[in-house]
Amino acid sequence: MRFFVPGETREGELRVALMPDVVSKLTKLGLDVSIASGAGEHAYASDADYEAAGATVVPAAEVDAALSSADIIGTVQPLDQDRARLLKDSAVSMSFLQPGRDLDTIRALADAGASAVSFDLIPRISRAQSMDALTSQALVTGYRAALVGAQLLPRFFPLFMTAAGTIPPAKVLVLGAGVAGLQAIATAKRLGAKVSAYDVRPASADEVKSMGGTFITLELEAVEGKGGYAREMTEDRAKRQQELLTPYIEASDVVITTAAVPGRKAPQLVTRDMVATMRTGSVVVDLASESGGNVEGSVAGEIVDVDGVQLWGALDVASSMPVHASQLYAMNIAAVLGLMVKEGELALDVADEVFDSSAVVLSGEVRNSVAREALDLPPLPEPEPSPQAEESN
Ligand SMILES: NC(=O)c1ccc[n+]([C@@H]2O[C@H](COP(=O)([O-])OP(=O)(O)OC[C@H]3O[C@@H](n4cnc5c(N)ncnc54)[C@H](O)[C@@H]3O)[C@@H](O)[C@H]2O)c1
Repeated sequence: MRFFVPGETREGELRVALMPDVVSKLTKLGLDVSIASGAGEHAYASDADYEAAGATVVPAAEVDAALSSADIIGTVQPLDQDRARLLKDSAVSMSFLQPGRDLDTIRALADAGASAVSFDLIPRISRAQSMDALTSQALVTGYRAALVGAQLLPRFFPLFMTAAGTIPPAKVLVLGAGVAGLQAIATAKRLGAKVSAYDVRPASADEVKSMGGTFITLELEAVEGKGGYAREMTEDRAKRQQELLTPYIEASDVVITTAAVPGRKAPQLVTRDMVATMRTGSVVVDLASESGGNVEGSVAGEIVDVDGVQLWGALDVASSMPVHASQLYAMNIAAVLGLMVKEGELALDVADEVFDSSAVVLSGEVRNSVAREALDLPPLPEPEPSPQAEESN
Protein backbone atom coordinates (compact mmCIF):
# COMPACT_ATOMS: atom_id res chain seq x y z
CA MET A 1 0.00 0.00 0.00
CA ARG A 2 1.56 3.22 -1.16
CA PHE A 3 1.00 6.56 0.56
CA PHE A 4 2.24 9.45 -1.54
CA VAL A 5 2.57 13.18 -0.92
CA PRO A 6 2.90 15.02 -4.26
CA GLY A 7 3.35 18.45 -2.64
CA GLU A 8 1.24 21.58 -2.93
CA THR A 9 0.64 23.53 -6.14
CA ARG A 10 -1.59 26.40 -4.96
CA GLU A 11 0.21 29.71 -4.60
CA GLY A 12 0.61 30.81 -0.99
CA GLU A 13 0.25 27.28 0.40
CA LEU A 14 3.43 26.64 2.37
CA ARG A 15 2.28 23.67 4.41
CA VAL A 16 2.94 20.06 3.51
CA ALA A 17 0.85 17.00 4.35
CA LEU A 18 3.71 14.99 5.85
CA MET A 19 6.57 15.91 8.16
CA PRO A 20 9.57 13.64 8.76
CA ASP A 21 8.59 12.97 12.41
CA VAL A 22 5.30 11.49 11.30
CA VAL A 23 6.68 9.06 8.66
CA SER A 24 7.21 6.27 11.22
CA LYS A 25 3.53 6.46 12.28
CA LEU A 26 2.59 5.62 8.69
CA THR A 27 5.18 2.92 8.14
CA LYS A 28 3.93 1.25 11.35
CA LEU A 29 0.53 0.99 9.67
CA GLY A 30 2.21 -1.03 6.93
CA LEU A 31 2.34 1.83 4.43
CA ASP A 32 5.09 2.38 1.94
CA VAL A 33 5.61 6.16 2.22
CA SER A 34 6.88 8.44 -0.55
CA ILE A 35 7.01 12.20 -1.08
CA ALA A 36 7.84 14.43 -4.04
CA SER A 37 11.28 15.98 -3.93
CA GLY A 38 11.12 19.47 -2.41
CA ALA A 39 7.56 19.04 -1.09
CA GLY A 40 8.61 19.93 2.48
CA GLU A 41 10.86 22.81 1.50
CA HIS A 42 8.65 25.63 2.87
CA ALA A 43 8.14 23.73 6.10
CA TYR A 44 11.92 23.38 6.44
CA ALA A 45 11.84 19.61 5.90
CA SER A 46 14.46 18.50 3.38
CA ASP A 47 14.48 15.45 1.12
CA ALA A 48 17.30 14.08 3.29
CA ASP A 49 15.13 14.47 6.42
CA TYR A 50 12.33 12.44 4.82
CA GLU A 51 14.75 9.79 3.61
CA ALA A 52 16.33 9.52 7.05
CA ALA A 53 12.83 9.03 8.47
CA GLY A 54 12.14 6.12 6.10
CA ALA A 55 10.29 7.73 3.19
CA THR A 56 11.22 7.46 -0.49
CA VAL A 57 11.80 10.78 -2.28
CA VAL A 58 10.29 10.92 -5.76
CA PRO A 59 12.00 13.17 -8.33
CA ALA A 60 9.82 15.83 -9.99
CA ALA A 61 9.80 13.99 -13.32
CA GLU A 62 8.23 10.92 -11.69
CA VAL A 63 5.49 12.65 -9.67
CA ASP A 64 2.72 11.91 -12.21
CA ALA A 65 3.66 8.23 -12.30
CA ALA A 66 3.70 8.13 -8.49
CA LEU A 67 0.25 9.75 -8.41
CA SER A 68 -1.08 7.09 -10.80
CA SER A 69 0.21 4.21 -8.74
CA ALA A 70 -0.42 5.52 -5.20
CA ASP A 71 -3.17 4.00 -3.06
CA ILE A 72 -3.51 7.02 -0.76
CA ILE A 73 -2.56 10.60 -1.64
CA GLY A 74 -2.14 13.21 1.09
CA THR A 75 -2.23 16.94 0.39
CA VAL A 76 -3.28 20.07 2.28
CA GLN A 77 -5.17 21.74 -0.59
CA PRO A 78 -7.27 19.49 -2.80
CA LEU A 79 -5.50 18.04 -5.84
CA ASP A 80 -6.08 20.12 -8.94
CA GLN A 81 -8.25 18.43 -11.56
CA ASP A 82 -5.31 17.40 -13.76
CA ARG A 83 -3.67 15.57 -10.88
CA ALA A 84 -6.99 14.14 -9.66
CA ARG A 85 -7.56 12.59 -13.09
CA LEU A 86 -4.33 10.61 -12.76
CA LEU A 87 -5.52 8.62 -9.74
CA LYS A 88 -6.28 4.93 -10.06
CA ASP A 89 -9.81 3.80 -9.27
CA SER A 90 -9.01 2.30 -5.88
CA ALA A 91 -7.08 5.39 -4.70
CA VAL A 92 -8.10 7.72 -1.87
CA SER A 93 -7.24 11.41 -1.82
CA MET A 94 -7.06 13.13 1.59
CA SER A 95 -7.15 16.95 1.79
CA PHE A 96 -9.22 19.99 2.80
CA LEU A 97 -11.65 19.37 -0.07
CA GLN A 98 -14.66 21.69 0.10
CA PRO A 99 -17.78 20.05 -1.31
CA GLY A 100 -19.44 23.31 -2.35
CA ARG A 101 -16.29 24.86 -3.84
CA ASP A 102 -13.91 22.29 -5.35
CA LEU A 103 -16.28 20.99 -7.97
CA ASP A 104 -13.78 20.46 -10.79
CA THR A 105 -11.64 18.30 -8.54
CA ILE A 106 -14.63 16.35 -7.24
CA ARG A 107 -15.78 15.69 -10.82
CA ALA A 108 -12.26 14.59 -11.83
CA LEU A 109 -11.95 12.26 -8.81
CA ALA A 110 -15.35 10.77 -9.57
CA ASP A 111 -14.41 10.30 -13.25
CA ALA A 112 -11.25 8.50 -12.14
CA GLY A 113 -13.40 6.20 -9.98
CA ALA A 114 -11.37 7.25 -6.93
CA SER A 115 -12.40 8.23 -3.39
CA ALA A 116 -11.86 11.45 -1.46
CA VAL A 117 -11.84 12.15 2.26
CA SER A 118 -12.15 15.78 3.35
CA PHE A 119 -10.74 17.25 6.56
CA ASP A 120 -13.43 19.90 6.27
CA LEU A 121 -15.99 17.25 7.17
CA ILE A 122 -14.53 15.24 10.06
CA PRO A 123 -17.34 15.07 12.65
CA ARG A 124 -16.75 16.74 16.01
CA ILE A 125 -17.00 13.68 18.20
CA SER A 126 -14.53 12.72 20.95
CA ARG A 127 -13.15 9.75 19.01
CA ALA A 128 -12.24 11.97 16.05
CA GLN A 129 -10.45 14.74 17.97
CA SER A 130 -7.01 13.50 16.88
CA MET A 131 -8.21 13.66 13.24
CA ASP A 132 -9.71 17.14 13.45
CA ALA A 133 -7.52 19.24 11.17
CA LEU A 134 -9.92 22.21 11.28
CA THR A 135 -9.12 22.41 14.98
CA SER A 136 -5.37 21.93 14.61
CA GLN A 137 -5.15 24.65 11.96
CA ALA A 138 -7.48 27.00 13.90
CA LEU A 139 -5.06 26.72 16.81
CA VAL A 140 -2.35 28.11 14.55
CA THR A 141 -4.50 30.92 13.14
CA GLY A 142 -5.75 32.04 16.57
CA TYR A 143 -2.21 32.19 17.91
CA ARG A 144 -1.02 34.15 14.89
CA ALA A 145 -3.95 36.59 15.11
CA ALA A 146 -2.89 37.69 18.59
CA LEU A 147 0.72 38.10 17.45
CA VAL A 148 -0.35 40.17 14.43
CA GLY A 149 -2.40 42.42 16.72
CA ALA A 150 0.53 42.87 19.09
CA GLN A 151 2.93 43.57 16.27
CA LEU A 152 0.79 46.16 14.49
CA LEU A 153 -0.28 47.99 17.64
CA PRO A 154 1.94 51.02 18.34
CA ARG A 155 1.50 50.34 22.08
CA PHE A 156 2.59 47.71 24.59
CA PHE A 157 0.38 44.71 25.31
CA PRO A 158 1.49 44.29 28.97
CA LEU A 159 1.21 46.62 31.92
CA PHE A 160 4.52 48.35 32.60
CA MET A 161 5.29 50.06 35.87
CA THR A 162 8.45 51.99 35.19
CA ALA A 163 10.37 54.73 36.95
CA ALA A 164 9.04 57.09 34.27
CA GLY A 165 5.44 56.17 34.98
CA THR A 166 2.87 53.44 34.46
CA ILE A 167 1.68 52.14 31.09
CA PRO A 168 -1.69 50.38 31.27
CA PRO A 169 -2.15 47.05 29.45
CA ALA A 170 -3.68 46.99 25.97
CA LYS A 171 -7.34 46.05 25.75
CA VAL A 172 -8.01 43.19 23.34
CA LEU A 173 -11.52 42.15 22.31
CA VAL A 174 -12.04 38.77 20.64
CA LEU A 175 -15.29 38.16 18.76
CA GLY A 176 -16.03 34.46 18.25
CA ALA A 177 -14.66 32.15 20.94
CA GLY A 178 -14.28 28.89 19.02
CA VAL A 179 -10.93 27.15 18.66
CA ALA A 180 -9.14 30.09 17.00
CA GLY A 181 -10.75 32.68 19.28
CA LEU A 182 -9.79 30.81 22.44
CA GLN A 183 -6.21 30.50 21.25
CA ALA A 184 -6.15 34.24 20.40
CA ILE A 185 -7.42 34.97 23.93
CA ALA A 186 -4.79 32.72 25.53
CA THR A 187 -1.98 34.21 23.45
CA ALA A 188 -3.00 37.85 24.01
CA LYS A 189 -3.32 37.07 27.72
CA ARG A 190 0.19 35.55 27.82
CA LEU A 191 1.48 38.73 26.19
CA GLY A 192 -0.04 40.67 29.06
CA ALA A 193 -3.13 42.26 27.47
CA LYS A 194 -6.48 42.67 29.18
CA VAL A 195 -8.74 40.39 27.16
CA SER A 196 -12.50 40.17 26.78
CA ALA A 197 -14.55 38.12 24.35
CA TYR A 198 -18.03 37.62 22.97
CA ASP A 199 -19.64 34.64 21.26
CA VAL A 200 -23.22 33.89 20.28
CA ARG A 201 -22.90 30.53 22.05
CA PRO A 202 -23.24 31.10 25.80
CA ALA A 203 -21.53 27.71 26.30
CA SER A 204 -18.26 29.39 25.35
CA ALA A 205 -18.34 31.66 28.44
CA ASP A 206 -16.61 29.13 30.71
CA GLU A 207 -13.96 28.43 28.07
CA VAL A 208 -13.25 32.16 27.70
CA LYS A 209 -12.86 32.46 31.47
CA SER A 210 -10.57 29.43 31.62
CA MET A 211 -8.26 31.16 29.13
CA GLY A 212 -8.12 34.23 31.36
CA GLY A 213 -10.58 36.37 29.40
CA THR A 214 -13.73 38.18 30.51
CA PHE A 215 -16.88 37.00 28.75
CA ILE A 216 -19.18 39.78 27.54
CA THR A 217 -22.84 38.98 28.01
CA LEU A 218 -25.24 40.88 25.77
CA GLU A 219 -29.01 41.07 26.21
CA LEU A 220 -29.60 38.85 23.17
CA GLU A 221 -30.83 35.32 22.58
CA ALA A 222 -28.23 32.55 21.97
CA VAL A 223 -27.66 31.31 18.41
CA GLU A 224 -26.49 27.77 18.86
CA GLY A 225 -26.70 25.27 16.01
CA LYS A 226 -25.74 21.61 15.58
CA GLY A 227 -22.51 20.02 16.90
CA GLY A 228 -21.44 23.04 18.96
CA TYR A 229 -21.35 25.32 15.89
CA ALA A 230 -23.14 28.65 15.58
CA ARG A 231 -25.97 29.02 13.08
CA GLU A 232 -26.94 32.00 10.98
CA MET A 233 -28.84 34.73 12.81
CA THR A 234 -31.64 37.05 11.71
CA GLU A 235 -30.87 40.48 10.32
CA ASP A 236 -32.49 42.13 13.33
CA ARG A 237 -30.40 40.21 15.81
CA ALA A 238 -27.24 40.92 13.83
CA LYS A 239 -28.00 44.65 13.89
CA ARG A 240 -28.79 44.65 17.60
CA GLN A 241 -25.54 42.73 18.29
CA GLN A 242 -23.59 45.37 16.38
CA GLU A 243 -25.20 48.17 18.41
CA LEU A 244 -24.51 46.45 21.73
CA LEU A 245 -20.92 45.63 20.81
CA THR A 246 -20.04 49.16 19.66
CA PRO A 247 -19.03 50.52 23.10
CA TYR A 248 -16.76 47.49 23.64
CA ILE A 249 -15.14 48.00 20.27
CA GLU A 250 -14.68 51.71 20.90
CA ALA A 251 -12.84 50.91 24.14
CA SER A 252 -10.50 48.33 22.57
CA ASP A 253 -6.96 48.74 21.26
CA VAL A 254 -7.14 45.50 19.30
CA VAL A 255 -10.22 43.67 18.01
CA ILE A 256 -9.76 40.12 16.70
CA THR A 257 -12.69 38.55 14.86
CA THR A 258 -12.88 34.79 14.28
CA ALA A 259 -16.59 34.17 13.74
CA ALA A 260 -17.72 31.63 11.20
CA VAL A 261 -20.90 29.79 10.38
CA PRO A 262 -20.12 26.48 8.62
CA GLY A 263 -20.92 26.44 4.91
CA ARG A 264 -21.97 30.11 4.83
CA LYS A 265 -20.42 33.49 4.24
CA ALA A 266 -18.92 34.84 7.47
CA PRO A 267 -21.34 37.08 9.41
CA GLN A 268 -20.54 40.78 9.43
CA LEU A 269 -19.98 41.64 13.09
CA VAL A 270 -18.25 44.98 12.78
CA THR A 271 -19.21 47.80 10.41
CA ARG A 272 -16.92 50.53 9.13
CA ASP A 273 -18.64 52.99 11.48
CA MET A 274 -17.88 50.73 14.43
CA VAL A 275 -14.19 50.56 13.42
CA ALA A 276 -14.12 54.34 13.13
CA THR A 277 -15.10 54.67 16.82
CA MET A 278 -11.72 53.16 17.83
CA ARG A 279 -8.89 55.55 18.57
CA THR A 280 -6.33 56.05 15.83
CA GLY A 281 -3.47 53.55 15.88
CA SER A 282 -5.80 50.74 16.98
CA VAL A 283 -5.82 47.43 15.14
CA VAL A 284 -8.52 45.11 13.86
CA VAL A 285 -7.56 41.55 12.85
CA ASP A 286 -10.20 39.85 10.71
CA LEU A 287 -9.51 36.11 10.58
CA ALA A 288 -12.66 35.55 8.51
CA SER A 289 -11.49 37.78 5.66
CA GLU A 290 -11.16 34.93 3.16
CA SER A 291 -14.76 33.80 3.69
CA GLY A 292 -16.34 37.22 3.27
CA GLY A 293 -15.03 38.97 6.40
CA ASN A 294 -16.43 39.70 9.86
CA VAL A 295 -15.44 43.33 9.42
CA GLU A 296 -16.80 45.63 6.73
CA GLY A 297 -14.09 46.63 4.26
CA SER A 298 -11.52 43.97 5.19
CA VAL A 299 -9.47 42.64 2.28
CA ALA A 300 -7.79 39.23 2.54
CA GLY A 301 -4.01 39.63 2.53
CA GLU A 302 -4.07 43.42 2.96
CA ILE A 303 -3.97 46.06 5.66
CA VAL A 304 -6.65 48.69 5.06
CA ASP A 305 -6.60 52.04 6.84
CA VAL A 306 -10.03 52.93 8.25
CA ASP A 307 -9.88 56.43 9.73
CA GLY A 308 -6.46 55.73 11.24
CA VAL A 309 -7.31 52.19 12.39
CA GLN A 310 -5.35 49.36 10.73
CA LEU A 311 -7.67 46.63 9.49
CA TRP A 312 -5.72 43.43 8.78
CA GLY A 313 -7.39 40.86 6.52
CA ALA A 314 -6.26 37.26 6.99
CA LEU A 315 -4.94 35.23 4.07
CA ASP A 316 -3.37 31.77 4.36
CA VAL A 317 -2.65 32.35 8.04
CA ALA A 318 -1.83 28.73 8.85
CA SER A 319 0.82 28.86 6.11
CA SER A 320 2.57 31.66 8.00
CA MET A 321 3.62 29.03 10.56
CA PRO A 322 4.27 26.14 8.17
CA VAL A 323 6.37 23.92 10.44
CA HIS A 324 3.91 23.36 13.25
CA ALA A 325 0.84 23.74 11.03
CA SER A 326 2.23 20.92 8.84
CA GLN A 327 3.27 18.86 11.83
CA LEU A 328 -0.23 18.96 13.31
CA TYR A 329 -1.89 18.31 9.94
CA ALA A 330 0.40 15.33 9.29
CA MET A 331 -0.60 13.92 12.68
CA ASN A 332 -4.27 14.40 11.77
CA ILE A 333 -3.61 12.47 8.54
CA ALA A 334 -1.90 9.68 10.48
CA ALA A 335 -4.92 9.46 12.81
CA VAL A 336 -7.38 9.16 9.91
CA LEU A 337 -5.15 6.55 8.26
CA GLY A 338 -5.26 4.63 11.55
CA LEU A 339 -8.99 4.36 10.91
CA MET A 340 -8.83 3.61 7.18
CA VAL A 341 -5.93 1.16 7.02
CA LYS A 342 -6.27 -2.24 8.65
CA GLU A 343 -3.39 -4.72 8.49
CA GLY A 344 -1.76 -2.79 5.70
CA GLU A 345 -4.93 -2.76 3.55
CA LEU A 346 -7.49 -0.03 2.86
CA ALA A 347 -10.69 -0.67 4.81
CA LEU A 348 -13.19 2.05 3.84
CA ASP A 349 -16.15 1.53 6.12
CA VAL A 350 -19.20 3.73 5.51
CA ALA A 351 -20.74 2.32 8.70
CA ASP A 352 -18.08 4.32 10.57
CA GLU A 353 -19.41 7.81 11.32
CA VAL A 354 -16.05 9.49 10.71
CA PHE A 355 -15.56 7.97 7.28
CA ASP A 356 -19.22 8.32 6.39
CA SER A 357 -19.21 12.09 7.13
CA SER A 358 -15.89 12.89 5.52
CA ALA A 359 -15.97 10.77 2.34
CA VAL A 360 -17.07 13.21 -0.38
CA VAL A 361 -16.48 10.66 -3.14
CA LEU A 362 -16.42 6.88 -2.77
CA SER A 363 -15.22 4.68 -5.64
CA GLY A 364 -16.33 7.25 -8.20
CA GLU A 365 -19.68 8.09 -6.59
CA VAL A 366 -20.15 11.63 -5.26
CA ARG A 367 -21.87 10.98 -1.92
CA ASN A 368 -21.79 14.39 -0.24
CA SER A 369 -25.18 16.10 -0.57
CA VAL A 370 -23.76 19.63 -0.97
CA ALA A 371 -21.45 18.48 -3.77
CA ARG A 372 -24.25 16.50 -5.44
CA GLU A 373 -26.53 19.51 -5.48
CA ALA A 374 -23.77 21.78 -6.82
CA LEU A 375 -23.02 19.24 -9.56
CA ASP A 376 -26.72 18.89 -10.46
CA LEU A 377 -26.75 15.26 -9.40
CA PRO A 378 -29.98 13.83 -7.95
CA PRO A 379 -29.95 13.25 -4.17
CA LEU A 380 -28.94 9.79 -3.00
CA PRO A 381 -31.55 7.74 -1.14
CA GLU A 382 -31.55 8.34 2.64
CA PRO A 383 -29.48 5.68 4.41
CA GLU A 384 -31.02 3.46 7.10
CA PRO A 385 -30.50 5.08 10.54
CA SER A 386 -27.27 3.77 12.10
CA PRO A 387 -27.79 1.60 15.22
CA GLN A 388 -24.63 3.04 16.76
CA ALA A 389 -25.22 6.80 16.38
CA GLU A 390 -22.56 8.58 18.37
CA GLU A 391 -22.85 11.35 20.86
CA SER A 392 -21.72 14.78 19.67
CA ASN A 393 -19.15 16.57 21.75
N1 LIG B 1 -13.88 17.35 18.45
C1 LIG B 1 -14.57 18.23 19.14
O1 LIG B 1 -15.28 17.93 20.04
C2 LIG B 1 -14.47 19.67 18.77
C3 LIG B 1 -13.40 20.09 17.99
C4 LIG B 1 -13.31 21.43 17.63
C5 LIG B 1 -14.28 22.34 18.03
N2 LIG B 1 -15.31 21.91 18.78
C6 LIG B 1 -16.35 22.86 19.19
O2 LIG B 1 -17.04 23.31 18.01
C7 LIG B 1 -17.49 24.64 18.21
C8 LIG B 1 -17.13 25.56 17.05
O3 LIG B 1 -15.73 25.72 17.01
P1 LIG B 1 -14.97 26.41 15.77
O4 LIG B 1 -13.78 27.08 16.30
O5 LIG B 1 -14.77 25.45 14.69
O6 LIG B 1 -16.03 27.47 15.29
P2 LIG B 1 -16.11 28.28 13.94
O7 LIG B 1 -14.77 28.45 13.32
O8 LIG B 1 -17.21 27.68 13.15
O9 LIG B 1 -16.61 29.70 14.51
C9 LIG B 1 -15.83 30.45 15.42
C10 LIG B 1 -16.68 30.97 16.54
O10 LIG B 1 -17.46 32.07 16.07
C11 LIG B 1 -18.70 32.05 16.75
N3 LIG B 1 -19.68 32.87 16.03
C12 LIG B 1 -20.36 32.56 14.90
N4 LIG B 1 -21.17 33.59 14.56
C13 LIG B 1 -20.97 34.56 15.49
C14 LIG B 1 -21.49 35.86 15.68
N5 LIG B 1 -22.38 36.35 14.85
N6 LIG B 1 -21.07 36.60 16.74
C15 LIG B 1 -20.15 36.09 17.59
N7 LIG B 1 -19.61 34.87 17.47
C16 LIG B 1 -20.02 34.11 16.44
C17 LIG B 1 -19.02 30.59 16.82
O11 LIG B 1 -19.98 30.33 17.83
C18 LIG B 1 -17.66 29.97 17.14
O12 LIG B 1 -17.42 29.86 18.52
C19 LIG B 1 -16.94 25.04 19.56
O13 LIG B 1 -17.93 24.75 20.50
C20 LIG B 1 -15.78 24.11 19.78
O14 LIG B 1 -15.44 23.95 21.14
C21 LIG B 1 -15.43 20.59 19.15
